[in-house]
Amino acid sequence: MEIHFFIGKGGVGKTTSAAAYALARSRRGARTFIVSLDPAHNLGDVLGTELGEDAKKVCDNLWASEVDFDAVIARHLKSVAEKIKDAYAYLRVLNLDKYIDTLRYSPGVEEYAVLEKITEIVRKEGKKYEVIVFDTPPTGLTIRMLVLPFINRSWIEKLIELRRAILHHRAMVARLSGEEPKVVIGGKEESLPIDESSDPIMKELKAMLRESEELISMLRDPSTTSVHVVVNPETLPVLEAERACSVLRKFGIPVKSVIVNKVLPEKSLGEEMKAKLEDQKRAMELIKEKFPGLKVVYVPMLPFEPRGIDKLMGYARYIEPLLG
Ligand SMILES: Nc1ncnc2c1ncn2[C@@H]1O[C@H](COP(=O)(O)OP(=O)(O)OP(=O)(O)O)[C@@H](O)[C@H]1O
Ligand SMILES: [Mg+2]
Repeated sequence: MEIHFFIGKGGVGKTTSAAAYALARSRRGARTFIVSLDPAHNLGDVLGTELGEDAKKVCDNLWASEVDFDAVIARHLKSVAEKIKDAYAYLRVLNLDKYIDTLRYSPGVEEYAVLEKITEIVRKEGKKYEVIVFDTPPTGLTIRMLVLPFINRSWIEKLIELRRAILHHRAMVARLSGEEPKVVIGGKEESLPIDESSDPIMKELKAMLRESEELISMLRDPSTTSVHVVVNPETLPVLEAERACSVLRKFGIPVKSVIVNKVLPEKSLGEEMKAKLEDQKRAMELIKEKFPGLKVVYVPMLPFEPRGIDKLMGYARYIEPLLG
């Protein structure tokens, strides 16, 4: 199974490129699933069909869906709440619900929720499809989401060390006092676990570590994951994309190609566009300088909106070298 992410600044053509790529791969015989992770969905508009949370067959070999962001966040928070309640059964008397309610507004919740959804899609749908394409929201959220497993891993490793120290101290106290350590909350006495195998928190931490490691190996494996960067031939999108790429590179996530979209045709433009063409030339030089070694493809500014199956197939011609 292959996973493809199309990333880039707002409006550069991520959804169009992702849809054209998915369509072209499906036409070449790969069972393909394209998923929009952008809360402001327009994948359905680009493919010319109404989409929802469930995979819908768009044409032969191609399925598509738009992730319901609010539902994903609500489900994520529910699963977090359940885990906290399970692991901290003895803290039930404290007002955990209030804490969980405020989680919705914590920074990072959207990234976690989307990452959880991607993991679920890859696990559940990975067996049904050969190619899964993710159309992502503008750069910031996507990059933060893609590096989350790496950040998680460092945090969890530290938390495991800390938990180990706590259990070790509890065991020491138990040995010295000859009694199991207990806690009294709300008038009720509860035993506290003293070894790793019976500690639900350690079990959860280890499960989280395994999950992060699984995600990291998936994201780092160039035969599974490809990131395609979409830019316009203008300085700002190129610089933003370059920063995003260097972050991904730092974490070992392979960036495969650059799609330079909406390239202005030099010949047919009038005198008044000369300055704009000069900007474009400079941006093209910058692309060569900033993305050495990557496959670069060019898509012209088309005289129509590339929407609907036929026009997307026309768009796909320009990204042919990426289709493998
Ligand atoms: N090569 C092209 N020629 C002409 N119009 C294009 C081209 N590529 C994309 N467009 C148009 O540009 C607009 C933005 O494209 P698209 O929605 O794919 O960008 P996006 O990067 O996904 O945007 P967002 O960040 O809002 O999700 C759309 O109206 C699309 O039809
Ligand atoms: Mg889009």
